[in-house]
Amino acid sequence: RSNNNIEIVEVGPRDGLQNEKQAISVATKIELVERLVKTGLSVIEAGSFVSPKWVPQMANSSEILEHITRNNPQLDRPLKYQWLLPNAKGFEHFLTVLNRPGSAYPSPPASPSPDKSPTRTTSDVKSSSHEVSIFTAATESFTRKNTNCSIAESLERFTPIMTESTNLGLNVRAYISVALGCPYEGPNTDPQQVAELAVNLLEMGAYQISVADTTGMGTPLKTADLLKALEAAGIDKKDISLHFHDTYGQALVNSMVALEHGIRSFDSAVGGLGGCPFSPGATGNVATEDMVHCFHSLGLQTGIDLEKLSAVGDWIMRQLGRPNDSRAGKATMAQ
Ligand code: HMG
Ligand code: MG
Repeated sequence: RSNNNIEIVEVGPRDGLQNEKQAISVATKIELVERLVKTGLSVIEAGSFVSPKWVPQMANSSEILEHITRNNPQLDRPLKYQWLLPNAKGFEHFLTVLNRPGSAYPSPPASPSPDKSPTRTTSDVKSSSHEVSIFTAATESFTRKNTNCSIAESLERFTPIMTESTNLGLNVRAYISVALGCPYEGPNTDPQQVAELAVNLLEMGAYQISVADTTGMGTPLKTADLLKALEAAGIDKKDISLHFHDTYGQALVNSMVALEHGIRSFDSAVGGLGGCPFSPGATGNVATEDMVHCFHSLGLQTGIDLEKLSAVGDWIMRQLGRPNDSRAGKATMAQ
């Protein structure tokens, strides 16, 4: 990535929808992903392989993955899909779906057979790929509430996932939740704890750490302190992404602090959708439209068409019957 290029990881289909109480059809979820692809986004977290008892809304993620592997659009750019999972069971489920007949992932055959996969061409295979995201947290209480284990146990669960992913050539991204405040342990998460976990996860084989402000308790000063701690721990800025929820309206300003510290990868959700079911009171992710509007105003490139993206935000919010949380999205639509 050049210094002027920003990577946006669109988490709307996963983080954005996981907390919605109403039933959302798999067709709507697939349509959301397909509409997002057309905006120029290059990374989309499209679903999760977690326990349906814990997060019922994500129960049909396997159908989304199956659809994508069979109907892969032709694109002129690389596109990555990410799939969130907490344990070996989720990982095995993900691999099973990925490797179903008709799917050419993760190792496409040298010459794809047209009769097995009528909609797939060699350029399809080149233009998109799949990755997994694992997740743990910087406090014991949040880890317990979110995944029913300790931080150490969460890392143990990742070990076989990392080993198998390495063997398969599959990239793994890792989230650290509550990095700037915890709903159970208070607003002052120890930056040192986040840095140690990040080093651990990178050493285990994650290629990037998404440092998450789950609660939106982050402020510019706390963000700067956290980034300094990550730097002091020897972590390369290229290996960090920031994931802000906007509960207190600080996500954009925190993102600008991160930008000044050299961070070039950010997670966000179209329309400002989102929230974690295990973080009471936390609201949506920072809106992708707001981030894109701001980055473009600074002369930075995201590869995303803001008008198209704003139309997707408008569409999904209408589908959900909810007001659009993206200021830039609404303003762009009103132009
Ligand atoms: P547990 O209850 O301790 O698990 O939950 P278990 O191993 O005892 O299994 C219980 C049942 O779940 C069993 O089924 C398992 O088979 C099944 P039963 O025998 O009772 O019928 N099960 C699964 N089913 C499908 N997929 C799986 C799976 N694993 C077990 N992968 C567990 C432990 C980790 C499974 C659970 O706590 C869980 O799924 N947690 C996920 C919670 C979650 O998805 N949270 C939101 C995503 S994280 C987030 O939003 C934060 C983030 O955005 C960053 C930020 O903002 O902070 C990433
Ligand atoms: Mg989140």
